[in-house]
Amino acid sequence: MKNLMPIIEPIAISTISRHLFPGQMGYSRVDNSTRLALEAELARLEKARFALSFASGSAALAAVFSLLKTGDTVLSHTQVYEGTTRMLQDTFRRFGIKNTSVDFSNENELRRGMESAQMMVCESITNPCLQRLNIEKIGKIKRKKTLFIVDNTLPTPVFSHPLESGADIVVHSLTKYIAGHHDVISGAVMTNNAAVFKQLRHIQWTLGAVPSPFDCALVLRGIQTLKIRMMAHQKNARLVAHFLAHHQRVERCVFPGISGVVSFWIRGDEKDTLAFLMKLKHIPIAHSFGGTQTTLLHPFSMMTWTAPKEELKKQKITGTLVRMSVGIEDVNFIINDLRQALME
Ligand SMILES: Cc1ncc(COP(=O)(O)O)c(C=O)c1O
Repeated sequence: MKNLMPIIEPIAISTISRHLFPGQMGYSRVDNSTRLALEAELARLEKARFALSFASGSAALAAVFSLLKTGDTVLSHTQVYEGTTRMLQDTFRRFGIKNTSVDFSNENELRRGMESAQMMVCESITNPCLQRLNIEKIGKIKRKKTLFIVDNTLPTPVFSHPLESGADIVVHSLTKYIAGHHDVISGAVMTNNAAVFKQLRHIQWTLGAVPSPFDCALVLRGIQTLKIRMMAHQKNARLVAHFLAHHQRVERCVFPGISGVVSFWIRGDEKDTLAFLMKLKHIPIAHSFGGTQTTLLHPFSMMTWTAPKEELKKQKITGTLVRMSVGIEDVNFIINDLRQALME
């Protein structure tokens, strides 16, 4: 038995290792075998040379922004995850890092904004309005000296590989589809750039926002079924989007096709939308997305917005918007609950 190798990566909970001689590294904030196994899998998934894991998607983003110095500017797309905006505008601004935003789908605006930016950040599919950005086009426009960061959480590496389209760094909230079961908070950063990896690795163990070995094991388990789950999410989401798009109470429905998330706007006002949500019998109203179970979110009231209401309105983030994470249950179970809740 002693020499047989386990098939599943063991959960290494020892925080310290016995040194063979003084001066070796053997502390699990710096090196942990379960975490290293996860990072190797994450690199394989995103077809990257290097990957690092973090205690959350937010910690992964914070590590990336920690590459900057006072006086630097981050250019962000007009719509990025509200936590990313909050991090830049509340936290990193206090360290003298500026944040400006432009519409990355507008070439002229992007070129102009990029001139004074050391870093630019966007999501391959925006959250919560699900705009699909042309990463390849942006990758071609980007200047060599501006680090291009893409948050690839929504499509996952099953549907999108931003590093192949010109991104320098990819970020993931593993909390969502990659772990996939609403039971772990975790994040990752992937890159092909050895110098950037070296700096990020230093930031990872210096700031210390590493995932626990238990969380790493849960993410590793999630990765085993990622592809089949994503196919099932996509199939159900397509059917749900079709149902919603043809329903008279739905004003507009967006489904980017390469994810399991659908966003839609209820006809009427916020009161009508909240009444619809309260009528759901089975689908829970909940934060986050990407788990096997279907959930619904009312972004206007459930997310902590930094942007003023007029800006949110411009982005169509209004009281009638609903973001739906379509799970992998029997699709009739999902559609039947929506149908009865939409009934007038
Ligand atoms: C696109 C995107 N990026 C990053 C994050 C942050 O991830 P976490 O909640 O794991 O910190 C989120 C969270 O909702 C997200 O939606």
